[in-house]
Amino acid sequence: MGRRIRRHADPFQCRIVISADEWLGPYRRHGAGHIWLDLGCGKGEFLAGLAGLYPDVFLIGIEIRGKIAEAYFPKYKHIPNLLLLHGNVNLSIPSMMDHLKVQRVFIHFPDPYTHKDRYKKRRMVNRGLVKGLCEILAPGGTVSVKTDDGTLFDEMDAVLKTRLAPLPEGFLRPCFEKVLSEWEGECKGKHVPVYSRIYGLTAGAIGEDSSFTELADFLES
Ligand SMILES: C[S@@+](CC[C@H](N)C(=O)[O-])C[C@H]1O[C@@H](n2cnc3c(N)ncnc32)[C@H](O)[C@@H]1O
Repeated sequence: MGRRIRRHADPFQCRIVISADEWLGPYRRHGAGHIWLDLGCGKGEFLAGLAGLYPDVFLIGIEIRGKIAEAYFPKYKHIPNLLLLHGNVNLSIPSMMDHLKVQRVFIHFPDPYTHKDRYKKRRMVNRGLVKGLCEILAPGGTVSVKTDDGTLFDEMDAVLKTRLAPLPEGFLRPCFEKVLSEWEGECKGKHVPVYSRIYGLTAGAIGEDSSFTELADFLES
């Protein structure tokens, strides 16, 4: 993006799997309400911004880079509905959810790995993750994806659409526009275009489950 040097985290260098024990206690103490996840949360600023706007929602951020977690996560320890965890998303989804469901997932500005084909396997959004997302999404749950890299967007979109359905333009957008992630803020400041889409479960992902009918009714209403 712009002149900023884009560092990529190598997911093969971090084998940390997040377990349900790390978040279930604080989640239950907070009231066991809706859960929103930010995958690759960076410094955690986006969720910290949402925490005040949605005090009843329990927010979990996951970041692979230990140095970021060490330096920035303690800053937000006082927020009761926010938990920022150090670990590898691709090793933790879906197992960390322990069969509990998630209403919103954010995947904002994941490292693109578009410079060399052989690095594509390091991308966060791959078939395994999308399968995991289908297991953890609640009926009517959504996955929000944003990036400033058009090639990455098209490739992620193709993988996501194998199991998830793009939702109509503008779906759920207004509430999240109030808070921008660090990278989205930078894009806005530099007038860099952002590609974004929101996805929900499809009939293929949840079979004949009646929750699909509920989602479809909701989207059409
Ligand atoms: C470009 S930054 C975007 C940060 C934030 N989402 C934003 O929009 O400002 C991508 C972040 O994803 C993290 N990341 C990459 N692969 C990951 C993985 N497998 N698990 C967890 N975090 C990951 C990187 O370390 C980095 O902090």
